[in-house]
Parts: sequence; structure tokens; C-alpha cells
Amino acid sequence: MKKKIFVCRRIPELALKRLAAEVELDVWPDELPPSRSELLKHVKGCDGILSLLSDRMDAEVFEQAGSQLRVVSNYAVGFNNIDVREAHQRGIKVGNTPGVLTEATADIAAGLILATARRFSESLEQVKRLEWKTWDPLGLLGLELRGATLGIVGMGRIGMALAKRMHYGWDMNVIYTARSDKPDAETLLSAKRVNLETLLRRADIVSLHADYNPSTHHLINSTTLGLMKSSAILINTARGGLIDQSALYHALKHGKIWGAGLDVTDPEPLPSDSPLREIARCVILPHIGSATVETRQAMADIAVNNLLAGLHGRPLPHEVRL
Ligand code: GLV
Ligand code: GLV
Repeated sequence: MKKKIFVCRRIPELALKRLAAEVELDVWPDELPPSRSELLKHVKGCDGILSLLSDRMDAEVFEQAGSQLRVVSNYAVGFNNIDVREAHQRGIKVGNTPGVLTEATADIAAGLILATARRFSESLEQVKRLEWKTWDPLGLLGLELRGATLGIVGMGRIGMALAKRMHYGWDMNVIYTARSDKPDAETLLSAKRVNLETLLRRADIVSLHADYNPSTHHLINSTTLGLMKSSAILINTARGGLIDQSALYHALKHGKIWGAGLDVTDPEPLPSDSPLREIARCVILPHIGSATVETRQAMADIAVNNLLAGLHGRPLPHEVRL
């Protein structure tokens, strides 16, 4: 009998075709994620699930699916939407898609640094609203980036790719936090590992690349924002929950920091009544870090490889281990 798979959204077609050749495929057809009750209905009897970061995978889902469920393959590098411990206790393997989205995501982080420091949001608005009146000697002045100090919070692959761009392109000095020294960062970029407090006090740009889990929830809050320079900018391309958004709103509103560039928020999408929308120096993108044709295709290939390996009882090419 063919194995049964639920795919929580449409992903690039080629990868779906590879799956369809081997398994009985149920693909959620809508643009928006399945509701919780739809999700619970569709996973019933499945041997594998291909999930997205917006689909919560927990005991209830595993229970509904049934004891034949072997693998949950996340179409993302982050896996904070999955209760990995619970999955492992039930013998369910969990996969993710690291590596292939590193460069695309680092590009968005670099773009947000430029967009925030040079006030792209306000500038674009000015043109669109026909408020561009003249070349203004004192208008839309931003921050000079050359030689700035870049603080990478969580020096993994994406942090390193961003640090390279900014060090080689803009002569930035790099400091970082990580669980251990990163010899590559030290030899290639003369980057120094420091503790979070030192990083926040020294950096002109603070960019978040840490895993999101209970220990990093609201890592950036009113206390840690208070350590940052009033001329500093904060960039987040990791997960919205790393930042206490209400504290960020107050810090921006009262000039405690200069600006922020966010590709992720909590929740997503950003609610219509979020006051962050009104902050001119807060540039917000709709979570597009990995959104290039090539990267989304590569992620789909890995997600399908993980899924098929799990179904056949083989080790996943990219398995999440705690
Ligand atoms: C996207 O945010 C991912 O984790 O892949
Ligand atoms: C993601 O791939 C990271 O390790 O930064």
C-alpha cells in the first residue's frame, strides 16, 4: 500500500511531482494555511507530513495522525513550530532545510541594514505620495555605514554570511555571540566573540541570528534595548519572538535606538493594530528571507529528500536533533 503524505501548502512543483510518483499525496491547496481543525483532519492516517513554519506540529497533531506517522519534514531551517521532543518520544523523525537558504537570507539582512540606515521606507513613501519636492540638503539623512561595528547575535551560517558581506563590502568590524569561538570568523574577518551585554553596548548594528526557543524568547527586551546605543539599529531575520515588540516600539518611539529592520514579527502577519507600523524608522518585510526561486526550489528538494528517507526508515539527510 502506498504511504500517505499531507503537504501543508503548495511548494515548488518539481518536488511535489517526485513525491507524487511514490506516495499518496494530499496537498493543501489554499494560499492561507489550513486551520487547526482542517490540519487535524488532513493528517489522519498519514505516514509523513511536510509542514511549514506556520503549522504547529505537536502532540495533538501526532495523536490525530496515528502511530504509523514516521516523519515530519519542515519546509524551513527554523523548527520552533515543532515539538521536537514530543516527536522523538513517539519515534517520529524531524527534518529541516539548513544551508541552502543561508545566502538568500543574508542578502535580506544586508538589505535591511541599508534600508534602515538610509531610510528606504520613508523615501519610497515620499515618492509615492508625490511629496518629493526638491533635493533637500537636510532631508532624509541617514547613517553612514562604512567602518561601523556589526554585532551578530548567534554566529551560525547566516550570521557568518552577513558578516562577510558587511566586512568585505563596508569595512565593518565584526563582534559576535555564540556558544563557542568560531575560528573562521576570527581568521577571515578578525571577528571577536563577546558576551551579549558587550555586543549590545558596542555595536552600531545588532543583527539577530539565534535559534528561537524558550531560552531566547524576548532576548531583546526593554533591559537589553537599554544597553544599545541611541544611534544603533536592530535587524531581525530570524524569528519575531526573539524581540519583545512592545519594548521595541517604545525604544523606537522615544529615540532609545535609531531604527529597526525586521523580516520577521510575532505574530505573522503583523496585526493591523500593531503600533510598530507607525514608526517611520522601522522597516518591515513580510518574512521573505528565503524567497528566491532557486532557494525555495532547493528547500523543496531537501524537504522531499528528508520525507522520503523518513518513510523508508533511512537516516534523514538533514535531521533535527536536540
Ligand atoms: C524561514 O524562516 C526558515 O526558518 O526557513
Ligand atoms: C542557518 O542555517 C544558520 O545556521 O544560521
